[in-house]
Amino acid sequence: MVEIGPNDRVFILTGAGISAESGLPTFRGEGGIWRQRRAEEIATPAAWQKNPQFVWEFYSMRRRKAAEVKPNPGHFALAALERAMGDRLFLCTQNVDNLHEQAGSRNAVHMHGELFKSRCESCARLPFDDSNLYEPPRPLPRCPCGALIRPHICWFGEVPFQMDRIFRALSECMLFIAAGTSGVVEPAASFAAHARHRGARTFYVGPETPANSSVFGEMFLGKSGEALPNLFKFL
Ligand code: OAD
Repeated sequence: MVEIGPNDRVFILTGAGISAESGLPTFRGEGGIWRQRRAEEIATPAAWQKNPQFVWEFYSMRRRKAAEVKPNPGHFALAALERAMGDRLFLCTQNVDNLHEQAGSRNAVHMHGELFKSRCESCARLPFDDSNLYEPPRPLPRCPCGALIRPHICWFGEVPFQMDRIFRALSECMLFIAAGTSGVVEPAASFAAHARHRGARTFYVGPETPANSSVFGEMFLGKSGEALPNLFKFL
């Protein structure tokens, strides 16, 4: 049980595992996305420069799958926590799906971008909603400025989004909870250590021990859809 005091600020970091029970594959587990394809060939600026069509086919396939699934009890538990805590809860997700929003979360920060948004690779036009599939024979999308439209995703070698807000929230939290993330991809893998060094209590929720397990004070080894709905107790 994670006990939350009336003035506690809580930072939650979610990863692919929280969407696994909804039917979306993780990256590194059995059947994981990076077990079947090399990340360097798809999720890097170099891959995009070399073959934007191939990159769009990959993200179109992921858009198709993500559009078919529904949130699970883990997403709903975090949405309920947000309703109970208001701005004392900071929900940061590495996931690009919109299952937190579908479950009712209003303020999830998508540090690795959003699958159902696109942006111009060149001009200052803001990211925009886009659920289109860019697969042949459909041509690659172009901005009115003439440049290609790319997925609004943080690729390897790029800086994740909203890092200022994230570090501010990390510096204020008294509780840090990671759920469904393997603890290998930086900078997210270091958030728990950052919070713990400041004195925050740290928890992990997921079926396997993550790579950064030494920084967690307590681990709840189980599926997030089963553990999260009964995890929180308000003092
Ligand atoms: P990983 O695939 O690395 O890890 C998924 C984690 O979810 C593992 O630790 C599993 O044990 C756990 N898991 C599996 N089923 C679960 C369940 N039912 N409940 C809870 N946990 C479960 O995914 P991430 O850590 O999210 O980045 O990967 C981090 C980043 O690497 C991703 O955001 C993505 C990827 O490359 C980009 O694409 C930029």
